[in-house]
Amino acid sequence: MTDATVQTIEPKTLESIRTVANIGSGTMGHATALQFAVAGYPVKLVDCSEELLKRGMEHIRADAEEFAQAGLLRAEDTVDDVLSRISTYTDYENGVSDADFIIESIVEKLDVKQSVWQQIEQYAPVDAIFATNTSGLGPTAIQSVLKHPERFVVAHFWNPAHLMPLVEVVPGKDTAPEVVDTTFDLMASIGKKPAKIKKESLGFVGNRMQLALLREAFNIINEGIADAETVDTVVRYSLGRRWNLVGPVASADLGGLDTFYNISTYLFKDMDNGTEPSLLLAWKVQDGNLGTKTGRGFYEWQGEDGQRIIRERDEQLMQQLAEDAAVEDADCKSE
Ligand code: NAI
Repeated sequence: MTDATVQTIEPKTLESIRTVANIGSGTMGHATALQFAVAGYPVKLVDCSEELLKRGMEHIRADAEEFAQAGLLRAEDTVDDVLSRISTYTDYENGVSDADFIIESIVEKLDVKQSVWQQIEQYAPVDAIFATNTSGLGPTAIQSVLKHPERFVVAHFWNPAHLMPLVEVVPGKDTAPEVVDTTFDLMASIGKKPAKIKKESLGFVGNRMQLALLREAFNIINEGIADAETVDTVVRYSLGRRWNLVGPVASADLGGLDTFYNISTYLFKDMDNGTEPSLLLAWKVQDGNLGTKTGRGFYEWQGEDGQRIIRERDEQLMQQLAEDAAVEDADCKSE
């Protein structure tokens, strides 16, 4: 076939995805690899060195053991069964050459992601789907360097990726709709709650919502309306409780849109509408008060406080996943 020949590529469907390649075994990558292996997929895990892969596999084993304890592995699987589905590679050629779906979680830098995807494209099957777990880089910019940009999509997991259900599936300008559909189906099939985002925007949806709320939280603290702990208490025991059950938009419908309209007429004017990072946040960062990593942020952090809160949070998240799985199981049996 010459370069001038137009190659017709059959779009991948969920059924044609048999092998997954997972690029990066760090904070996010080890957890996405675990999710695919738990769901039964052979996973090829790629990182820069044997040492990094060993560390990634240790994290995967630890998380898989917690899944097993919470009853979140398939009935027929042990931890060793799950781990045996994951093979490790330090080169793309062996790592991606027979992959149907490739997910990447490497450093959040546009030029590095572009270069890695170009290298992957040299070895991957021509119809493999390419998914990046970028936190917010535009898929159009990443896919622009590819020979087949239509196969490229964002699959944005939330940290900790094996415990948080959401995956935002975001197309770039050149992404084929079938690629979005298959990625969405794949995420649902491994037990995630995918959300199809119509078009790319900075921060997608989740981080836009998060930053909008944080901007006002910092403003409230800076204006002396309430301290950090009080802001957290207000959100945890009101919006946090409600939004886990009914999202903010449906909540507005339930409350009555006329009421929210009336509140909007006076409140928006009084809130922070700034387009630069909050001054309060900038001062904290300037002073080296970065949160748990330096022992002080909005709170004082002693010893293992931060680790303890993460452990307790993750236990609750795990319990919630087990409850979700039990509900889905009951739904299946009643169908
Ligand atoms: P990390 O630094 O923990 O892990 C990155 C891994 O990729 C490392 O193991 C590194 O050795 C490996 N790597 C680097 N270059 C590579 C290459 N060329 N080939 C193969 N492996 C390579 O980073 P983290 O936190 O897992 O972030 C990865 C991506 O996920 C970033 O794009 C980040 O923005 C995104 N993300 C991160 C979240 C978080 O809370 N940490 C949440 C959602 C997305």
